Amino acid sequence: MAPTPSTPWLRVDLPRLRRNVRRVAEHAATAGVALRPHVKTHKSVEIARLQLASGAVGITVATIGEAETFVRNGVTDVFIAYPLWLDDASATRLRDLAIDARVAFGVDSVEGVANAARLLGATTAEVLVEVDSGHHRSGVAPDEAGTVAATATRTGLGVRGVFTFPGHSYAPDALAGAAADEADALARAAAALRAVGLEPEVLSGGSTPSLAHADTGVLSELRPGVYVFGDAQQWELGSCPPEDIALTCRSTVVSHAHGRVVLDAGSKVLGADRAPYATGFGRLLDHPDARIVLLSEHHAVVDLGGAPLPPLGSQVDVVPNHVCAAVNLVDTVYAEESGELRAWRVAARGLNA
Ligand SMILES: Cc1ncc(COP(=O)(O)O)c(C=O)c1O
Repeated sequence: MAPTPSTPWLRVDLPRLRRNVRRVAEHAATAGVALRPHVKTHKSVEIARLQLASGAVGITVATIGEAETFVRNGVTDVFIAYPLWLDDASATRLRDLAIDARVAFGVDSVEGVANAARLLGATTAEVLVEVDSGHHRSGVAPDEAGTVAATATRTGLGVRGVFTFPGHSYAPDALAGAAADEADALARAAAALRAVGLEPEVLSGGSTPSLAHADTGVLSELRPGVYVFGDAQQWELGSCPPEDIALTCRSTVVSHAHGRVVLDAGSKVLGADRAPYATGFGRLLDHPDARIVLLSEHHAVVDLGGAPLPPLGSQVDVVPNHVCAAVNLVDTVYAEESGELRAWRVAARGLNA
């Protein structure tokens, strides 16, 4: 068991984490769809193992480096949900990875898929065509998915299906609408593949805010990531009640300057994300009316909304706005259960390529 670290440190409430993992696994199983969680949220082998043990078919990652970390640690089925633009070195790594595991990656252009096919040569790695369902980040228009898929087969790459990330669910009152857009885009993309003679095996979607609304009559696979921990963004969007939040930053009250609470957790451990709809730089789990109103590298200034200030030297649990960003700032998170701490390495931390 690990000794209690000095603050600030990231604490995982292990019973809550297990509950979140189980709840979404049961949701997917009941709906008859595959669950392939995005592990960029936790980057931890221990948590991936919990997800796989509860029925996940494999994992989703964003980079080849993340994929390598998890495959090295025994994961056998990985989808890199990103439109990779390969070079010689990354193609070699991807080809090697596909020898050790079942691997797929994203493509969203004729040029990208042709480049990948040329550099990869013979490989069992397959592609999924990314389509834009309304987030307007990467992804082709759904009706163009057939052209990209046909290029893949013509150049020797197997096509597994289509995927989208309904990231426009990250806005107030947008959860159900984004899920409807997701289903519509995937259905149209699947039709575009069929029009060129390809039957998609996988129609993959999923973000944490839209998860409960995902149309499992259309989708065959869900890829949420943040659901394992929840965070202040999900709390404010209404997709994670505070009692389900499983990761907090244990912090110490170091100052009462100007009649406010100052904590020792700043942007270097909480992350600096602040979405337009966020009501502050983070929340306090046990003080729902409190808001972090100022954040610098090692200080968080909290407005408690008139409530009595927690005493100097006392500790509070901060809920980061965006948990993926916070986890990527530390080497280790500490999972607590029955008063005992386990140190879990953030094994894929910083692996951006
Ligand atoms: C391609 C892709 N799939 C799945 C996810 C997981 O969604 P969330 O972070 O809302 O859990 C993300 C998140 O960024 C993503 O980019």
